[in-house]
Amino acid sequence: MNQDFSARLQAIATDTEKTLDRLLSERPGPGETARPERLIAAMRYGALGAGKRIRPFLLVECAGLFGASGQPVLEAAAALECVHCYSLVHDDLPAMDDDDLRRGRPTVHRQFDEATAILAGDALLTLAFDILAGIDADAATRIELVAGLARAAGIGGMAGGQMLDIDAEGKRLDEDATLRLQAMKTGALLRYGCEAGAIISGASPDERTRMVDFGQRIGKAFQLADDLIDATGDAATAGKATAKDAAQGKATLVALHSVERARAILADTVAGAIATLAPFGTRATALADAARFIASRSS
Ligand code: IPE
Ligand code: IPE
Ligand code: MG
Ligand code: MG
Ligand code: MG
Repeated sequence: MNQDFSARLQAIATDTEKTLDRLLSERPGPGETARPERLIAAMRYGALGAGKRIRPFLLVECAGLFGASGQPVLEAAAALECVHCYSLVHDDLPAMDDDDLRRGRPTVHRQFDEATAILAGDALLTLAFDILAGIDADAATRIELVAGLARAAGIGGMAGGQMLDIDAEGKRLDEDATLRLQAMKTGALLRYGCEAGAIISGASPDERTRMVDFGQRIGKAFQLADDLIDATGDAATAGKATAKDAAQGKATLVALHSVERARAILADTVAGAIATLAPFGTRATALADAARFIASRSS
């Protein structure tokens, strides 16, 4: 991995971790009555201590491209990561993918129990909107951030995509249907990270459209790479069980075509993502590196 990129990813991960640690405090916030010990422990377990923090990275870097940085940006990044971590906690539940290992550790329902994992996911999701509503930005910006995250996470985004993913188990979806499912379940949150960076920095409509385009391509690449890790990787490196998608009959391009063809589509997708950054020149180097990292990662 490119040294500069690696250091930048690490720095943003550390800032995100600190922000999440503060927001996931054991002490109740304003307007809250109490934070039940078991629930906050499960939320902290699901959100802190690991994870590549690629969505925060995209949000922070896209915001930086248009001149925004600091606490509001980090809080928006932490809000997005809360939704992502919630999606993982619920994705791993026995009723969903039924996984025991996540980020190299027992999944939240294995470490705690199913009811606690469901509630930890619910509370991470709602906390995300609490965070966004309270960031230090003008009201119109906050509303756009909140509405965008709601749409990326909800029926027309991640949750809707998870429904399609579960519905598709054991069925043969064509390429368009598979890509649509993946654009929703995974692409929507990555795309939002890029768009939120443009929103919070007051980028122009054209710049924002370009970041959405970049985010969409990155989202497609991300799930393709994830499916390749499942098909060709190992649990010790990935930090989660592999070789499960075929067993569960998941709709993936690897299943539909082959590992080789999926790799070729991934390479094309990453090249397309990087091409959208051309107008920004070297200012977008970190984002181009992120696109390459997403495709070449093994965890
Ligand atoms: C895994 O996401 C789930 C998918 C959307 C494919 P990540 O690979 O970003 O998971 P962490 O946060 O780094 O563990
Ligand atoms: C998950 O896709 C997408 C989410 C919305 C969490 P996967 O089910 O392939 O993610 P992993 O492989 O469990 O991380
Ligand atoms: Mg899944
Ligand atoms: Mg899964
Ligand atoms: Mg997977």
